[in-house]
Amino acid sequence: MPTTPLPHRIQSFQEYREVYARSVADPEGFWAEQARTFRWHTGWGRVLDWNFEEPRVRWFEGATLNITENCLDRHLDERGDQTAILFEPNEPDDPVVKLTYRELHAEVGRVGNALRELGVGKGDRVCFYMPMVVELAVSVLACARIGAIHSVVFAGFSAQALADRVNDADCSLIICSDYNRRGSKNIPVKAVVDDALALGCPSVRNVLVHRNTGEEIAWNKGTDVWYHERVEGQSSSCAAEVMGAEDVLFILYTSGSTGKPKGVVHTCGGYMVYTAFSFLNVFQYQPGDVYWCTADIGWITGHSYILYGPLLCGATTVMFEGVPTYPDAGRFWQVCAKHHVNQFYTAPTAIRALMARGHKFVEGHDLSDLKVLGSVGEPINEEAWEWYHDYVGQGRVPIVDTWWQTETGGMMISGLGGLSPQKATFAGYPLPGIQMALVDKESGQELTGNPESGLLCVKFPWPSILRTTWCDHERCRTTYFTTVPGMYFTGDGARRDAEGMYRIVGRVDDVINVSGHRMGTAEVENAINEHGQVVESAVVGYPHAIKGQGIYAYVIVADGVPADDRLREEIVAMVRQEIGPIAKPDKIQFVAELPKTRSGKIMRRILRKVASGETEQLGDTSTLLNPEAVEQVIAGVV
Ligand code: WT7
Repeated sequence: MPTTPLPHRIQSFQEYREVYARSVADPEGFWAEQARTFRWHTGWGRVLDWNFEEPRVRWFEGATLNITENCLDRHLDERGDQTAILFEPNEPDDPVVKLTYRELHAEVGRVGNALRELGVGKGDRVCFYMPMVVELAVSVLACARIGAIHSVVFAGFSAQALADRVNDADCSLIICSDYNRRGSKNIPVKAVVDDALALGCPSVRNVLVHRNTGEEIAWNKGTDVWYHERVEGQSSSCAAEVMGAEDVLFILYTSGSTGKPKGVVHTCGGYMVYTAFSFLNVFQYQPGDVYWCTADIGWITGHSYILYGPLLCGATTVMFEGVPTYPDAGRFWQVCAKHHVNQFYTAPTAIRALMARGHKFVEGHDLSDLKVLGSVGEPINEEAWEWYHDYVGQGRVPIVDTWWQTETGGMMISGLGGLSPQKATFAGYPLPGIQMALVDKESGQELTGNPESGLLCVKFPWPSILRTTWCDHERCRTTYFTTVPGMYFTGDGARRDAEGMYRIVGRVDDVINVSGHRMGTAEVENAINEHGQVVESAVVGYPHAIKGQGIYAYVIVADGVPADDRLREEIVAMVRQEIGPIAKPDKIQFVAELPKTRSGKIMRRILRKVASGETEQLGDTSTLLNPEAVEQVIAGVV
């Protein structure tokens, strides 16, 4: 039986150094070599065409492919009967679902045909608002099969946030479930979609409803259709749409420092090559291994490293419906033992939450199959790193701290499991093909020495870099390509040690990271300001033991309005309504004034310090218009 070719897997740190050097000396040759391991319908002309001024980045242009043929069809000969998706349900005693590559291929075909029957075709946008169930994975892949563009919205966002995203992309179809099981609660999902439509989503023709819990839902005859009724009886064979390498594969919305969330656009060819290459190398995935990433498919981590990367490499990928603390704080480790998980990938916030419950929940579970532990989403603090290493990894399992972003599509800086030197709180070295730079904030010059610290940038395109932001190319340019001309600016600050290892310090813009979820402070402020009795607000992050950062809101209320707990509750409710529970402020302080510069800008630096309890070192306040506001803010800290 022929073995399915895969991108190159590096096998030592010495080899990493050689491969890295080659990837920089000859990026086109290097990536073309990786790309050739996939199934293409026609080949490319130029490997890469780029400039970061427009910006314009094209990889493998002229080539055609379908990513699902690479995820599914090409594995059928060698591993048709191997489990592709291993579904672990919310309830530990409910049945596990194992879909083999052959079954997944057939299911994706059926759903692809059902979508085509609903009138969905190449380039149409399909929005998802679903829990972590197999049908989500299947129908996301079905979109890719027929060339429709998926836009997955995390099912914790509010109706308003969902409507905003549906409308920005003019989605013609929403796929949702009736209810979502999360721990001991069932959460309505379809009802949120109904509310979103009531807010006005003129592009939506249909809502395809997956029956998950079977509970009662409202039914709109004109738009709603049952998933099972449409999918049953469909042929499992579904011709894959032939896509250009630079055709859009998906949109994923993410928050920035200004305005509404933007739709990050990824395309078919480069994203395929990079997610597969990075998955294989960072996790050192070997055939037969069981890999588990605990993220939600509503985030980029789920797209790249639950679905595409693992499936492209013929992996067995675990999909978990539940939460880390249900039925108790040992659930992750129980599931690792139950399925003999070899590579486990989670977020620091989950590690900290479980660490707080004590290591007794780890003990007693057989974790001897673990080979690599991964971390993603925010800087991992030393204490959490040590706990992960000592208790979960039993001092034996290497940890990869993977730094990347929605915009990068794949992991950028990370150790390669078991090969690279590791150092707590350091993400490590850039992956092959990734040309990082530190740039001096004041001079805008690249800092080439070691050690150094500065703005974290990328100098050269990699295959899965975002191509644009949906319908707003100018916003893409100004957000990422103007801060440091000629480079992609990440929004993060970082340090490089004497050995050249990177440590991510955190965002240098007005973006905060709450439990690994990215939030624009302006977005939260806009939501708070929707409250009729709020005059102005300023939101900052502050250190939070479990969440990494908590949300601290300074609020000015209208004259005569009692600033009390009832108003606090109303403000929180407003944020839940506008964005969702993940954005609700942890602390609200009512203030009479906000410290402002003479030009009227809120001095966030001072507000951040006050919220963090660092009132001793406020720095320079001489440019303030109203220095007395600072004292008031300090006096009223909550
Ligand atoms: C921001 C991107 C990438 C998937 C999840 C988040 C922060 C991400 C790390 C890490 C330190 C990290 C950065 C980045 N971040 N991974 N290993 N160490 N910080 O994706 O929502 O696009 O957020 O998350 O600040 O810019 P995202």
